[in-house]
Order: sequence, then structure tokens, then C-alpha cells
Amino acid sequence: MKAGVIGAGTMGRGIAEVLLASGFEVVLVDRSPELAEKGRESIRKSLQRGVDKGRIAETKMDEMLGKLKVGADFTAVADASVALEAVYENMEVKRAVLDAVSSVVSSTALIGSNTSSLSVTGMSSSVKNPGRFLGVHFFNPVPVMKLVEIIPGEKTLPEYVEKARDLAVQMGKTPVVVKESPGFIVNRLLCPLMNEAAYLVSEGVASPEDIDTAMKLGANHPIGPLALADLVGIDVLYAIMETLHEELGGEANPDLAAKYRPCPLLKEMMDRGELGRKTGRGFFSY
Ligand SMILES: NC(=O)c1ccc[n+]([C@@H]2O[C@H](COP(=O)([O-])OP(=O)(O)OC[C@H]3O[C@@H](n4cnc5c(N)ncnc54)[C@H](O)[C@@H]3O)[C@@H](O)[C@H]2O)c1
Repeated sequence: MKAGVIGAGTMGRGIAEVLLASGFEVVLVDRSPELAEKGRESIRKSLQRGVDKGRIAETKMDEMLGKLKVGADFTAVADASVALEAVYENMEVKRAVLDAVSSVVSSTALIGSNTSSLSVTGMSSSVKNPGRFLGVHFFNPVPVMKLVEIIPGEKTLPEYVEKARDLAVQMGKTPVVVKESPGFIVNRLLCPLMNEAAYLVSEGVASPEDIDTAMKLGANHPIGPLALADLVGIDVLYAIMETLHEELGGEANPDLAAKYRPCPLLKEMMDRGELGRKTGRGFFSY
């Protein structure tokens, strides 16, 4: 069992760690050996935390790290049966990576994209044998979050939907299959909730503290929508709302467009550099 993961950032390193824990040999590829090495170091630290907390044995950590290769050479993934990309959320970048990867792996290897918002069918034109390509959307942090959204494109063969399901289960995750549509399930539901909470703040309906308390105690949410927006990043939330606004609404559907309009307060916060946890300030201070 060998897997290739392209992109050693936040998501790629998390996906690689979970693949290692599931018994795969993993090749983690980034734009330079240094960036790939950073990914390895982050996985090592994450596993070491697991050892320190008694969740995994030191021998298991060494075994997992022994199965991890990192580098900048795409040909290293040639004999992988699974290749998952987690590079920048940019169509051109993803297309170039998918073209390169699908040219080196076997014609039957499953190829997945971790895209949050780009069209799977749109990307598939760059994949050799696109029947084995689909969206495999993990959640952050990957070792913790149990869900994987599986998004077949127009050309995806049913057997590869099953293979992707099996892979998710093998990785200890619960898969759900979603028709290709903006935001899939989770972002389509969750982002408008956070956006609406921002409208409540801007209309002065309640304080951020009270809005989050209300949703934790009144709807049994484990985290309030505004604390969640700070965790996701105000800029990321804004970008997803813009995508929903344009792709589900647009000029053709003004009613739907209004439903998904990004709250102007989010833009004001972005202009002030208040992007949430990553900048130390969002709806709350950190
Ligand atoms: N961060 C999240 O919470 C989250 C959640 C779900 C899905 N996603 C999606 O996962 C993907 C990755 O997001 P991320 O947050 O890990 O981004 P990131 O910026 O942390 O990592 C992206 C990595 O890809 C590498 N990369 C870029 N171009 C490359 C190329 N041509 N070849 C090899 N490596 C290349 C970059 O050097 C970087 O290390 C995106 O599609 C994003 O939408 C992100």
C-alpha cells in the first residue's frame, strides 16, 4: 500500500500522517525539498505529541516515520496506488499538478483532489484517464476530523467512488458522497451560518459573546459560529461566501445571490487585518 500526497502544507501533512497511521507507505511531495522536509518535521512533531500523551508507542512512531519519504520529485509517486493532491486552491496550479501526477502513476491509481471549492469536472480535463479522478475533501485538522466528503465529477467511474469510500474507511474516517455543487455539504451549511452570525453583530442584535453562548446552549453546538469563523479565518470565510454567492446565485438568480451575500462586516475586518486566530484578533481576541 503506497500513497502519494502532493502539497505538504496544512492539509497535505495531515493527510500524510493519517495515511501512515493506516499502514500506508507515503511519499510527500512539495515544490522544493525544503518545503517537503518542513512537512515531515511537522508530522514528526505531531506524532511525538501523541507519544508524549501516551496515545501511540514510540516504536510505532518510528515505524511510521520510516515509511515516509519526502521530496520535490513527482516521479517518486510513480508506484503509488493512491495519489491525493492538497496544493493551493487555484485551478491552474491544481491542473498542472494533476497533469504531472496522472502521467507518472499507473493508469488504475486513484487520484483525488482535496479542493474546497473548485470544480472536479473542470480539473478532470487535466487528468489522464479521468475516470479514476474525484474530489476527496478532508477537514482540518485531518488527524482529528472524522468526515471525508467524496465528490465524483462527471467523468468519475462508479468503481472509483467505491475505492474512495474504502480508502476513507481504511483511514478511520466516515465518507459521505456529494454531488458536485458549490460548498458541497459542510461549507454550504456552515458558512451561511457564520455569515448570518456576522450580520447579527453588524446589526447590533447581540454581542459576539452572547451570539456564541446562544448557539452553544440553545442549539447544542460545540463551538459558537463566531469563534468558528475566527478559527476558519475571516478571509477564508469571505472567499467561500463569495463563491457560493456567485455560483449559486449570480446575476441570473438575484434572490439566491442575496441569500449568500458575504456580510460587509467580514470585509471591514479583513481590511483591518482582523482575520481571526491567525492574526490574534477576529470577533474575539487571542
Ligand atoms: N486549510 C483548511 O482548513 C482546508 C480544509 C479543507 C480543504 N482545504 C483545501 O486543501 C488544499 C490545501 O490547503 P492547505 O490549507 O493545506 O494549503 P497550504 O497553503 O497550507 O499548503 C499548500 C501546499 O501546496 C504546495 N504547493 C503549491 N503548489 C505546488 C506544486 N505545484 N507542487 C507541489 N506542491 C505545491 C505549497 O508549497 C504548500 O506547501 C486546498 O485546496 C484547500 O482549499 C483546506
